[in-house]
Amino acid sequence: MPPSLPDNPESNAPDIDRVYAEAKEAISPFVFNHQVAQVFDDMIARSVPGYALCHEVLSLITNRYAQPGSLLFDLGCSSGTSTKVLADFSPTTCKVIGVDNSQPMIDRCQITLRNLIENDRVALSCQDISDTDLTGASIIVLNYTLQFLPLAIRDQLMARIYQSLLPGGIVFIAEKVTNPELDPQQAINDLHLDFKRQQGYSELEIAQKRSALEAVLIPETEFAHHQRLAQCGFEIPQTLTRALNFIAFMGQKPRTNPKLTSHQSGLDSR
Ligand SMILES: C[S@@+](CC[C@H](N)C(=O)[O-])C[C@H]1O[C@@H](n2cnc3c(N)ncnc32)[C@H](O)[C@@H]1O
Repeated sequence: MPPSLPDNPESNAPDIDRVYAEAKEAISPFVFNHQVAQVFDDMIARSVPGYALCHEVLSLITNRYAQPGSLLFDLGCSSGTSTKVLADFSPTTCKVIGVDNSQPMIDRCQITLRNLIENDRVALSCQDISDTDLTGASIIVLNYTLQFLPLAIRDQLMARIYQSLLPGGIVFIAEKVTNPELDPQQAINDLHLDFKRQQGYSELEIAQKRSALEAVLIPETEFAHHQRLAQCGFEIPQTLTRALNFIAFMGQKPRTNPKLTSHQSGLDSR
């Protein structure tokens, strides 16, 4: 069923996504430009199954793991949905930093989070994640963002995230995942297409957007994600939500340095 237009044009309902509704002569690679920023909230909610659930779980994680006085980062913050969850569910002594390299997205976010920015709970930065100093963070979020970064820099970024986190800090990640070796993946992909149809997207919109995302959104397997986190030193990498081909998972930096021997950490002197 196609989404209905808001009754009240003055309401806060996001603009309806029609970016790929008309046939295009050539499909250029997907970018987070002004046109996308304008309809982003509608686009992501109708394209990503489990989007709301991911943010519900993020609220629980924030409530439990945000350390008073620390920084919380939302890398690839877009219009600020995860940024707002971090601010709403953390101690007021925490500062939330939303980072995005798309100026139209940051402009949009600035409007959505105006109150939190005025109250100094949130700051936004238009820059590349690779240039962001993450020191002093107790939670770092990458919701549906890692998949847009070149594969070659993902290991390095995750190692830096691990190093920057405070002891006991959390990395929380949501991603589209793939498993090319499994037949059921085909069924899952088909169900994802059904999800988009049910959200009102036409076959033309689905086909054009898929082609725009082809070389831009590079999904990995769930195993590759868990393995990367484990290799960096994160404890208990685990999947927290799953909706068709989208998952959210987390890893925790140990509270004590696991590389220290009991002698070095002073445990044997008790
Ligand atoms: C799918 S959106 C993220 C959605 C958002 N986290 C949420 O929960 O609604 C991906 C975002 O990552 C941003 N992005 C992609 N590559 C980036 C990079 N290298 N540095 C900073 N932001 C980046 C894009 O501009 C886009 O806004």
